[in-house]
Amino acid sequence: MISKATIDKIFSTIRVEEIIGEYVQLKRAGSNFKGLSPFHDEKTASFVVSPSKQIWKDFSSGKGGTAISFLMEIENFTYPEALRHAAKKYGIEIEEDTRELTEDEKQSQTDKELLFKIHEIANDFFQDQLFETEEGKTIGYSYFKERALRDEIIKKFQLGYSPEKKNAFTEYALDKGYSKEILEKSGLSIFPENSPNGVDRFRERVIFPIHSFSGRVLGFGARILKNNIKTAKYLNSPETEIYHKSNVLYGLNQSKQAISKNNLCLLVEGYMDVIALHQSGIENVVSSSGTALTVEQIKLIKRLTENVTILFDGDKAGIKASFRSIDMLLSESMNIRVLLFPDGDDPDSFARKHPQEYVENFIQKEAKDFIDFKAEILLKEAGDDPIKKAESIRDIVKSVGFVQNALKQEIYLKEVSNKFQLSEQALFNELNVQKQLQKQQTSPQQRQEPQAVKPKLEKVPEAFETINPLLILEEKMVELMLKYGDRILDRTDEENNPYQITVIEEIIGHLEEDQCEIQSVLNQKIINEIKSGISENELRSGNFFMTLMDEEITGKIADALVEPYENSDWGKHQIFFSTEEEVVPKIVQDVIFRYKREYIMKIIHDMKKGLSDSENNEETYKKIISLNQLRKEIDEKLFRIL
Ligand code: GTP
Ligand code: MN
Repeated sequence: MISKATIDKIFSTIRVEEIIGEYVQLKRAGSNFKGLSPFHDEKTASFVVSPSKQIWKDFSSGKGGTAISFLMEIENFTYPEALRHAAKKYGIEIEEDTRELTEDEKQSQTDKELLFKIHEIANDFFQDQLFETEEGKTIGYSYFKERALRDEIIKKFQLGYSPEKKNAFTEYALDKGYSKEILEKSGLSIFPENSPNGVDRFRERVIFPIHSFSGRVLGFGARILKNNIKTAKYLNSPETEIYHKSNVLYGLNQSKQAISKNNLCLLVEGYMDVIALHQSGIENVVSSSGTALTVEQIKLIKRLTENVTILFDGDKAGIKASFRSIDMLLSESMNIRVLLFPDGDDPDSFARKHPQEYVENFIQKEAKDFIDFKAEILLKEAGDDPIKKAESIRDIVKSVGFVQNALKQEIYLKEVSNKFQLSEQALFNELNVQKQLQKQQTSPQQRQEPQAVKPKLEKVPEAFETINPLLILEEKMVELMLKYGDRILDRTDEENNPYQITVIEEIIGHLEEDQCEIQSVLNQKIINEIKSGISENELRSGNFFMTLMDEEITGKIADALVEPYENSDWGKHQIFFSTEEEVVPKIVQDVIFRYKREYIMKIIHDMKKGLSDSENNEETYKKIISLNQLRKEIDEKLFRIL
């Protein structure tokens, strides 16, 4: 583990504008820098970097944070990986702090590092076998040549060969000093009772390394060379501490730039499909490699684009898989099109038959929106059977129910209505029925593979039916503490004696006085940090939180600290507003009183709801009256501030 001192050193040394400058072309704009968002395709710059505050904010995607969180976002690094990367760039020596790790954590830390290392070594070994050995050349390399792969593409995807010998790799790795335990954990070797020297998992197969977003080898897929043998065509690495197949997309590392440049991701079924398309110059393509598409995989794509075209072979299994993927992609707010290849072609065979331009045009012209696609398939099946036909339409409306945006949903419903000559009202009713069903069944992912759903770090869902004024004021109070926490306010007490207090102390004091219940989990987290700061005589505002290892919090701080618009333009025209900064003392007081007022209103509201015919009503009425009195006093105070 990286020591706290090193983390502080890293944060005080690195410059957000320099780190981001390697990925985004930044131009000066007042005291900030601006550029095009690397997370979104856009024409006007909405990506802001503040050198003075050392944070960034992407107004197109709503993301923001520190230089470290930027690295995590763009490179898919973990927090420690991002810190190490930054430390290396600035030549900061990392001081490891091993005391804080338990034995188990230490073990898992070193295991992970060893697993990465052993995959790197295996990857080199398999490539060496392919290019440098007789067996590799005559069997593996010639197989790839039969499939018409050029050398440069074999190298780009780091394809390899695992020889016939029972323990070729295992022996090699044991010789290098790797333990049986780690070899077994990696899934590359097996040590059965009767073979103490171990057995390679992949033997006499060509090898497809599976890379992470940033290009580390996490596992392998291995294809058998002869098509007629009665054993699995592909063998894949098992789940390990570094390989979680539901979190990985094959080809993402090689395709990420093209995906974001084209603002489109092609989704195919197989390793060979990804590779063949790359070879014909179509480089924005990934595959979920034989596993059903997961929400995590969709999120990986979503960082680069919201547009997906699904390319599947026209067999039955392919179609069923595409139906399920369609609903999942729609639930994640992706825009999708679908293409089935004609008569037994898959993207690989199709790309080998036709030149790049033809393939590109074909994908562009033939890909259908999901309604046309599902209609075509389902209606063909239904034939003239009116009941089956109704089922088909219901199935299509079900997919429309997964569309997240209400306006888009309506447009799709109109399309269905036109296509089938059905009234929009009837479809709308059906949609509502489907939505009720979906609510009971939750998302398509949860419905089909409950084990794949993991709680992920995401913005806290603060769903309220209407705008919740209490929450807005709560947000504002937290924002004020983050921005101006250590500002000193000149106040006078009831007897008109002057005193001084910081913004943080004043706000926290009020919250504690009324024991207010905080509505948002994230705000609660921040407030807890601030409070423990106070108990240690430390004022924790904006900059303190930046070194915390919490993406949600740093995102929120960036929201609070970077303003979307600079008001320098106004100054040029001799128009001056008082900035928020100038009126902080007033705003703090105003927000506190408004918050108190809303809080009282909420209590009164809850009490009224709880009124019943029971005997306690008298008490409750009394409380309500005194709360109303309190509210009036606050109204008067508010009036005086204004
Ligand atoms: P080729 O036959 O080499 O063209 O393979 P492909 O990459 O086109 O694969 P195919 O379309 O047959 O299957 C799609 C994907 O499913 C493959 O890339 C593999 O990831 C996976 N897959 C296929 N067959 C098997 C198998 O027998 N076992 C496992 N575990 N995965 C398989
Ligand atoms: Mn194929």
